[in-house]
Amino acid sequence: MDTAEETAIGTGDRRRRRRVLLFPLPYQGHINPMFQLAGLLHSRGFSITVFHTHLNAPDASLHPHYDFVPVHDGGARPAADSPDDTVHATVEHILALNRAYEAPFRELLAAVLDDNAGGSVACLVADAHLLTLLDVARGLGVPTLALRTGSAACFRCFTAFPMLCDRGYLPVNDTSQLHAPVIELPPYRVGDLPAARSPAAHGRTREVLRRAVTAVATSSGLILNTFDALEHAELAALRRDLAVPVSDVGPLHMLSPPPPASASASTSCLLRPDRGCLEWLDAQAPASVLYVSFGSLAVMSATDLVETAWGIASSGRPFLCVLRPGIIRGEPPSASPPQLPDGFDAATRGLGAVVAWAPQEEVLAHAAVGAFWTHCGWNSTLEAVCAGVPMLCRPCFGDQMGNARYVDHV
Ligand code: UDX
Repeated sequence: MDTAEETAIGTGDRRRRRRVLLFPLPYQGHINPMFQLAGLLHSRGFSITVFHTHLNAPDASLHPHYDFVPVHDGGARPAADSPDDTVHATVEHILALNRAYEAPFRELLAAVLDDNAGGSVACLVADAHLLTLLDVARGLGVPTLALRTGSAACFRCFTAFPMLCDRGYLPVNDTSQLHAPVIELPPYRVGDLPAARSPAAHGRTREVLRRAVTAVATSSGLILNTFDALEHAELAALRRDLAVPVSDVGPLHMLSPPPPASASASTSCLLRPDRGCLEWLDAQAPASVLYVSFGSLAVMSATDLVETAWGIASSGRPFLCVLRPGIIRGEPPSASPPQLPDGFDAATRGLGAVVAWAPQEEVLAHAAVGAFWTHCGWNSTLEAVCAGVPMLCRPCFGDQMGNARYVDHV
């Protein structure tokens, strides 16, 4: 893509800069890379307009240079939770989001296109899971690019999904198969594939992954938050298999310009990061602290939390642990932060700190952090790789098992 300066009639004149429209999927792990991409594009001279849902709406006051367009769901508020496993719930939510936002997005996009004062629109970059909205934009004459927030290896699984089904890898009906290698996609094993755990959700999962591949194939290109030195073979395979250009623009959190000094490192956090933990880290010895976080979506049972807590205590190491509200399965995100087991504080003798949300990029970059016990979300994985922090992997669902396999094997 040309920089806006090359195509703008007059830089500095906000009304005449070329404008990029963005529409993230409203989950933390998808919002972060989209805003990092926005920062990169803005630094190259583009104006930025962010379309967003009311669910997990970004804080516009932290981005005074961007325009924000809230999109109403027409009253059909898609619920973020549904029964079954997390993949099943997410898949149903993604399909519901696409349905609910189609008509309101068409109306709002048409208004933005009519507004000449907003500058000429270069394209829409939307999450690859928002196929319906990408279709709407193209229908109105707006070129589109699809952003995938996971790894190139993970998107290869998406494109290979029909083959994996035809060859009997999926759905998994026999759990003894989970450790079998996927010959066509090394180093994946069957249990690493980004599939639903419950066979009942297999068809809907296949549909959502097919839609993401279509979103890419019908757009002008795919943007991936990865880089060639990390995923050379996977990127080469995608470039061979896809008819559209594939841009590896990552690691976005490193390349995006830093936020203003007054803001936290990530201005797209949905929960307020507890910055006090940075001071606590300042008082710890270099490379001594175990940082523990399982991302924004993964949940665990109350029993698993107890086991996790005693695992941390038994390490005997100083620790910084993120226990976000809603991490216990079945509890809403508005729940109180979970309680640690009786005796935990005495056993750890004040060795650690527990927060509801951490400024993770800064934590991982802190000299006191020596290891990261992680769920292996792709953002967390990239952040740890870039900070040079060794990982202990506890993947939970979706792409996380595959990310963990790569951390371990590659
Ligand atoms: C999930 C998937 O697992 C991930 O692979 C996919 O690409 C997006 O959806 P999530 O659970 O949100 O992601 O994990 P991750 O991708 O690691 O993203 C979490 C983000 O929240 C990271 O950027 C991390 O820095 C940030 N974070 C996490 C904080 O800022 N503070 C915290 O306390 C925890």
